[in-house]
Amino acid sequence: MKKYNLAIIPGDGIGPEVITEGLKVLNVAAEKHHFQIETTHFDFGGEHYLKTGEVLSDTDVEELKGFDAIYLGAVGHPDIKPGILEKGLLLKLRFDLDQYINLRPVKLYENVETPLKNKNPEDIDYIVFRENTGGLYTGIGEFQNKGTDKEVAIQSMVYSKHQVERCIKFAFETLVKRHVNTPWRGLTADELNKGKIAKLTLCGKTNVLTYAFDLWDRVFNEVATCYPQIITDYVHVDAACIYMIESPQRYNGIVTCNMFGDIITDLAAVTQGGMGVAPSGNINPEGVSMFEPVHGSAPQFAGKNVINPIAAIATAGMMLNYLGETTAASDIENAMRETIKTMDSMLVGQMGLTTSQVGDSVAAFITQSK
Ligand code: IPM
Ligand code: MN
Repeated sequence: MKKYNLAIIPGDGIGPEVITEGLKVLNVAAEKHHFQIETTHFDFGGEHYLKTGEVLSDTDVEELKGFDAIYLGAVGHPDIKPGILEKGLLLKLRFDLDQYINLRPVKLYENVETPLKNKNPEDIDYIVFRENTGGLYTGIGEFQNKGTDKEVAIQSMVYSKHQVERCIKFAFETLVKRHVNTPWRGLTADELNKGKIAKLTLCGKTNVLTYAFDLWDRVFNEVATCYPQIITDYVHVDAACIYMIESPQRYNGIVTCNMFGDIITDLAAVTQGGMGVAPSGNINPEGVSMFEPVHGSAPQFAGKNVINPIAAIATAGMMLNYLGETTAASDIENAMRETIKTMDSMLVGQMGLTTSQVGDSVAAFITQSK
């Protein structure tokens, strides 16, 4: 029997609760599809830091490299200064494990309310490929004359061609795999006739960030020549925000830098029903990947059994898909859709089900399905 060794980092706030539901679902899927999940829990996060003074050591990272995947809940603690856990845990893992893609699918499920007027599930269904190891996130910068009237703060957006290229290639490859048999629904008859199967949009700011996005733009066009079956498009990040609200159906895949990807995926999450729904994967195709819901630790709701675990459950599905258990992954997705139909809302306190009931329901639908 195939066995997967998973590192589990429940983290802070609501992290442990949503991970419990995700694991519940994973275990049921494993039993049904005859594979084994072995979990090792790590207590990294705010409490661990307050107790030990250490966030995550290099030895910890080495240990994590031995797993098939990492499943993380959320990090963030009200008593800890912003930046310490984010940089010391989340970003350290993404960087040290070279998880160079942050894969964030944006999908409106049936029966989920979107704040976008007259938009349906077929209008909101795209993937954001967020570059995950570079850009403004590298922490390169400095203060000059700190504390004086002449103070200057510098934060640099740094990208190597290598970083940009591997991210863009991954985006093209993913769209090819996804649409090789079923072309994207947004293509015109003419485009289909020409053999097109998908569309990738580069989201940047070539009109202002004339170094960084000049590189992105050139590399994007260069890589695109290897994928004649994919239509390419470009949008400035500010305009992208307009279209994500006004006409999200124009998007199939969006590839962008770390910072823009962070911002637009929160916006995107709202259009798909809120942070309770949005999954993500930090992918290193050649190494260990880490899967986490997009939402934060929401400490105000911790321990109340009211938070929506759907994002964490969808994240578990993504992880299985990535591990190659594609049938089990689509089982989770189908079961999740069924559960969502029985929920009043995706929002905290309005779900009509508790956190654990949502997990129970998804698990039951998996067991019941053929
Ligand atoms: C996210 C989060 C993180 C990010 C923070 C917590 C460092 O907002 O995963 O989107 O900015 O990447
Ligand atoms: Mn974010």
